[in-house]
Order: sequence, then structure tokens, then C-alpha cells
Amino acid sequence: MVRRIAILGSTGSIGRNALRVIEGLGPGYRVCALSAHSNAELLAEQVRRFKPSYVAITDESCAGQLAGLLDGLAAEVLSGPESLVRLAELDEVDTVLTAVVGAAGLPAVLAAARQGKRLAIANKEPLVIAGEILMTEAAGSGSEIIPVDSEHSAIFQAMQAGKSGEVARIILTASGGPFRELGAEDIREVTLEQALSHPTWDMGPKITIDSATMMNKALEIIEASWLFGVGVEKIEVLIHPESIVHSLVEFVDGSVIAQLGEPDMCLPIQYSLTYPDRVCGPAKAPQLAEIGRLNFSRPDPTVFRALGLAYEVSRAGGTAAAVFNAANEAAVEEFLAGRIKFVNILELVEHCLNKHDIRTDVSLDELLEADMWARREVAATACSA
Ligand SMILES: NC(=O)c1ccc[n+]([C@@H]2O[C@H](COP(=O)([O-])OP(=O)(O)OC[C@H]3O[C@@H](n4cnc5c(N)ncnc54)[C@H](OP(=O)(O)O)[C@@H]3O)[C@@H](O)[C@H]2O)c1
Repeated sequence: MVRRIAILGSTGSIGRNALRVIEGLGPGYRVCALSAHSNAELLAEQVRRFKPSYVAITDESCAGQLAGLLDGLAAEVLSGPESLVRLAELDEVDTVLTAVVGAAGLPAVLAAARQGKRLAIANKEPLVIAGEILMTEAAGSGSEIIPVDSEHSAIFQAMQAGKSGEVARIILTASGGPFRELGAEDIREVTLEQALSHPTWDMGPKITIDSATMMNKALEIIEASWLFGVGVEKIEVLIHPESIVHSLVEFVDGSVIAQLGEPDMCLPIQYSLTYPDRVCGPAKAPQLAEIGRLNFSRPDPTVFRALGLAYEVSRAGGTAAAVFNAANEAAVEEFLAGRIKFVNILELVEHCLNKHDIRTDVSLDELLEADMWARREVAATACSA
């Protein structure tokens, strides 16, 4: 059987690695559709190389440029934010690898799950915003959700050693980002350049900033809770600066099963496509004797307040996680544009959570409304600060 793949966000860090993996996997894996937001040049290059039947660019203003670059090629060109849903629903696609950044990927993630496709999910924000709706859609259609996030791929792999009712604890590891050794005062003065220098992972700008605030780990706590059906009280975070142990599952008998690998996203991307098989690929196994030591410690909750918020948000349920995620996305954009300081990111997220009236038992539209409210609130608060 040939696996027929759509990559949403093929020009990003995950998307580019996914194409590298697929190239190595050979003729059993075919790229049927690709998308980017505005990077028409790289997208066109990818189309020339992988020859998908469909290509989408979500920033409408770049559609003309893309069409010009693809002149003479057979791919059908779609544009606008809704084109991602079209790609996810294509009959000729059985696997949707979602590598878009942020909430923008939500409609397409839901569409893929509703259609019963394999969802190789890197785009964690949709799971945070609408985890319950997404998991219900997937259960109804039989869609397999295979995590691409390295921690969740590790948990997914470790889970195969026992039954879900036998899980005592999930231990999510975190590199700790560039500021893991700083105190609450030192972190006030960090610059954009410092926040963008991740010590172990090479990733897109939004997730790199999320790693520095540990918001990434906060989102991952909520992501893990939905993916594995485990309450957040059973999810713990440990700092592991070497990024070799990607996460662990503790079972009721006291056994702890871990997955180890080099910090290279090619491995979890590949496993999400080849599962349940394992095949040779670009990732190298870690050489433990050369690494020598693997260290673990607890994060300081007074420095990385995002972690504590994740537990509160998850317990609150309803619209809380949508506000948490959207406020962070908007605040990170402000920080990347140089309009706010690093410490303001979490302050803005806390401000939105404090001001928001959480509603429970909500529809998708109500979650999206809460998301939009938080973005407006961040914009208004950041510009008046
Ligand atoms: N990078 C990693 O190692 C890593 C690890 C685990 C999980 N993840 C998750 O994977 C997702 C992607 O991360 P990344 O680091 O690959 O991000 P990235 O490098 O910033 O790439 C994002 C991709 O999404 C596209 N995009 C941006 N804004 C969009 C929008 N509004 N609508 C549709 N498409 C849009 C970009 O297109 P353009 O290039 O045209 O802007 C690009 O193809 C995130 O949810 C992240 O949390 C990433």
C-alpha cells in the first residue's frame, strides 16, 4: 500500500524535515499535497521536486506569485485559509501531516479527523484549544492520531509497553530552553536574540520562544492529557538539558519506560508515517557512552509560571485553554515584532486568563470566539502598555 500524504506547513521546520524523511522512505510514501502561508518560492521549489497534485498558499496576497512560479507544472493551486481544509479532505490523501504553526491549523486538523484520515500531528495548538472535540471526532471516524511532537511520540511509544489503565504517571521532559539556569530577576532582561537561541533544538520562531518561556511545555501538558486520556494531575515535567530522553511513562508496578533518541525531529516524523513499522531513516541512535551523563531536575515554578497555569487551565476546562493559547500566540507575535519584553509574554497571558469569564460545555464557535477575544485583548493591552 502506498501512503498518500498531505503536508500542511511544508515550508516550516517540521514540514522541511518531513519532506526529507519522505524522500528517504522511497516509493511507498507519496506527497500528494503541500501548503505554505507566504513562502511561495520555497513552496514552488518543493512542488518541482515532489510533484504533488495539489498545492495551497494560505496568504491570498501570495497566490499570484505562486501561480507564476508554478507556470507549466500540473499541480492545482488553491489559496486562502480555507484551502487547508480542502487539502485535508482530498480523497487521494490518506495521511495528513499537520505542521502549521498556531490555531490556524485547527479547521484542517478537525477536517482530517472527521474524514477518518491518519493525522500525524505536530501542530499542538488545535489539541490545546479543542482537544475534546478533536478526540471525539477521531473516535467517531476511526482516525488514527499519531503525535509528532518528540515528547508525545515518546509517550506514544512507551504506552505500547502496558495498558492505558496501568499508567501511573506521564513524565514529560523539557530541555529547559536557553534560560533554565536564570532566576526570576535575571529573566526580566533577556533579549529577543537570546530567546531565539535554543540550546538543543532547531525549530521555528514561535515554538523557540515558547520553549524559552516554557509555554511550550505548558501546552504539551494539555496536549498529552487529551492525546492519552490522562488527567493533568498524573503529568509531571522534568528538566532534562541533554534532550535525549524524550519522555517517560511510569506504570502502576513501578516500571518506568522511556524513549531515547538524538534531538532530531526526523525520528518522530518518520514514526508517525511508518507506524506501526520501524524502518531505517536519517536519525542516528544516541551514543550513550559518549554522552556520559543524563541529568534530570524539577523546573522552578516561580520562574516558569506557564507550567502552573497549564494545570489550572486544564482543570478549569471550557474556554480557558483557548484563551491561554491565543493570548500566548498573540503575545509571542508582539515579542517577535519587538513591541514587548520577554517577561510581558506571560504577564499578558495571565492578564487575559484573569479577565476572561470561563465558559464550559462550549461549541467550537464559542472556543473560536474566546480565541479571538484573547487576541484582541493582547493587542489592546500591549499597545497601551
Ligand atoms: N519545529 C519543531 O521542531 C517542532 C517540534 C514539535 C512540535 N512542533 C509544532 O509544529 C508546528 C510547526 O512548527 P514549526 O517549528 O515547523 O513552525 P515554522 O517553522 O514556523 O513553520 C510553520 C509553517 O506553517 C505555515 N504557516 C504560518 N502561518 C500560517 C497560517 N496563518 N496559516 C497557514 N499556515 C501558516 C508556514 O508557512 P510560511 O513558511 O509560508 O510562513 C510554515 O509552513 C507548531 O505547532 C509547533 O508547536 C514543532
